[in-house]
Amino acid sequence: MNRMLGVRAIEIDPSAPRGILYRDLAASLASLLEGESDALANLANASALLGQALERINWCGFYLLRGEELVLGPFQGKPACVRIAMGKGVCGTAAARRETLLVPDVNAFPGHIACDADSRSEIVVPIVAGGSLRGVLDVDSPEPGRFDSEDRKGLEAFVATLTPRIDWDAV
Ligand code: SME
Repeated sequence: MNRMLGVRAIEIDPSAPRGILYRDLAASLASLLEGESDALANLANASALLGQALERINWCGFYLLRGEELVLGPFQGKPACVRIAMGKGVCGTAAARRETLLVPDVNAFPGHIACDADSRSEIVVPIVAGGSLRGVLDVDSPEPGRFDSEDRKGLEAFVATLTPRIDWDAV
């Protein structure tokens, strides 16, 4: 447990086998959010934790549901498009279907929204709390086929750890 600077986070080895990496990531997220109720701060730290722990990615962060569209939330990476309509792009499609989308080649995904021209593959996990869609977690990589079923499982576990710890009405 690393308590430097008052931040509680378990040490994560980005090169660990993915099962171990994602287990440590979920535990680290729970520790990082413990005792803090500010939703924006917690989402910002969650994106930073992912950005530090995942190798070979160029963007990770949140789009939050605002009315009928997704709006950019806390993230790590280059500035990104701010608004995505439901059903549009990978994010809007995952949100509309409420299911994880794993896209090995973004250029082969009809309607993919290219925020960072370096992105080659992408995974988007919807965030559903108490039956309501709240947004998505989006992770991009400059490497084709970067994400597989282990990443899907691990990132869904990350979102499952995050979801009950955020006051979604406050973001
Ligand atoms: N590629 C996404 C847009 C968000 S950026 O990748 C950060 C999409 O098609 O929805």
